[in-house]
Amino acid sequence: MANNDDQFKKVISHAKEYGYVFQSSEIYDGLSAVYDYAHNGVELKKNIRDYWWKAMVQMHENIVGIDASIFMHPTTWKASGHVDAFSDPLIDNKDSKKRYRADVLVEDYCAKIEAKIEKEVKKAAKRFGEAFNNDEFLNTNPRVLGYQEKIKTILSRLGKSLEKEDLADVKALIEELEIACPLSGSRNWTDVKQFNLMFGTKLGASAETAMDLYLRPETAQGIFVNFLNVQKTSRMKIPFGIAQTGKAFRNEIVARQFIFRMREFEQMEMQFFVKPGTQKEWYEQWKETRLKWHLSLGLGKDNYRFHDHEKLAHYADAAADIEFKFPFGFKELEGIHSRTDFDLKAHEEFSGKKLQYFDHEDNQSYVPYVVETSIGLDRMFLAVFSNALVEEELENNTTRTVLKLPAVLAPTKAAILPLVKKDGLPEVARQIIDDLKWDFNVIYDEKDAVGRRYRRQDANGTPFCITVDHDTLENQTVTIRHRDTMEQQRVNISDLKSIIKQEVDVKSWLMKM
Ligand code: GAP
Repeated sequence: MANNDDQFKKVISHAKEYGYVFQSSEIYDGLSAVYDYAHNGVELKKNIRDYWWKAMVQMHENIVGIDASIFMHPTTWKASGHVDAFSDPLIDNKDSKKRYRADVLVEDYCAKIEAKIEKEVKKAAKRFGEAFNNDEFLNTNPRVLGYQEKIKTILSRLGKSLEKEDLADVKALIEELEIACPLSGSRNWTDVKQFNLMFGTKLGASAETAMDLYLRPETAQGIFVNFLNVQKTSRMKIPFGIAQTGKAFRNEIVARQFIFRMREFEQMEMQFFVKPGTQKEWYEQWKETRLKWHLSLGLGKDNYRFHDHEKLAHYADAAADIEFKFPFGFKELEGIHSRTDFDLKAHEEFSGKKLQYFDHEDNQSYVPYVVETSIGLDRMFLAVFSNALVEEELENNTTRTVLKLPAVLAPTKAAILPLVKKDGLPEVARQIIDDLKWDFNVIYDEKDAVGRRYRRQDANGTPFCITVDHDTLENQTVTIRHRDTMEQQRVNISDLKSIIKQEVDVKSWLMKM
């Protein structure tokens, strides 16, 4: 079994080899934390986006979509608080000259304690065998309790210091914990400073008149500034939501871990506008709904957990992350935030325009409260992709690499393979493609022996291989092979569409919610 680092390296190289993700501008040695999606990657990404859009917009009568521009009036970012408060605490190591996020150094330290807990659990599970009770062990073992308490104390102090902007205490914490630079091992740190994450650019042709702009660091603000336009034209009544997917940009201090933390990435966000005072209920409801969406994809219940924020963003009165078990541990995948009326009120103040909703039932106007769900599309891609990549030992002592993507998300649903390149078999395969391609993304593959083609499609994540052989010419039947079980069935060509649909249909997957 590969360790987590090896597994992650395999994920990255598989993503490149099979046309999912390339480093941007690779011929110029790449650009840090910027990636391109290749022919398979773009399909997987689109399928994830569609799966989200179907669940969030089209399945909800009271949620509508928009597509706002990346450029926004610069005052937007003053009002939203991003100009003043969208920053991360950075610290430099004086010996290695490496720059880190101070809070991440502390969180990584805690992750190491967490790993110790996992080690204790594994040891105890081995010792007690069948009688082992995971929850009881976590709640009673003195060593584990000690570790948990330590993590809690450290994170709570970090949260408080960041909230109070007490950067000296963040540095003191790093020193007290004796955290060393992962590169040089040195503990020679600079002071902690705040670093704004927004990218600036200019609009206009002449230097004198050009206007300073920002590339949006979140898609949410495009929704807030359009709130009244959308509400009026869509005739929505509160509670209702506005959703959008689109690019966001952040000048991340430390951008590592492949597509987990990028400088240009895509978000899928939904702002749900509610009556003041009801936000807590909606916050809980959206936490539950969003977790169900994740679970519908079958990546494993144990791979998710909630993490309530200690340090709240400048706009929130409650916030939680849905964390996923990536190859490098549990990390944030999605955020659910109760954003109060902060954004709409701020835009009212800065624009001088009213952004209020007239509630006919209560006969009063108010600025709605907002509960937001916000997920990174690239991060979701990484969750799905890394979870899917497995190496299986087969009965004949060989291994196969298979990308067990949820069939609903797989880039290609079926590969059509003529057994040989002659005797009219390619022509029949092409006819099957011509029929199926109206409903599914399918491909033709005639190169190499059929066994090798099966392996290639396993590694590509294609749920079905359909083989056309000489019997097909006689009786209009083909062999359909299932990626995960490797089972093969003989079926009529006329049944192919319904067999594939059963496995890849969005409805049957979303019905699991
Ligand atoms: N509108 C709220 C907001 O932007 P966030 O927690 O900063 O909240 C939401 O971001 C989600 O966007 C995260 O949960 C993550 O999935 C994704 N995300 C944030 N920064 C990212 C980055 N640098 N690279 C990739 N995804 C990122």
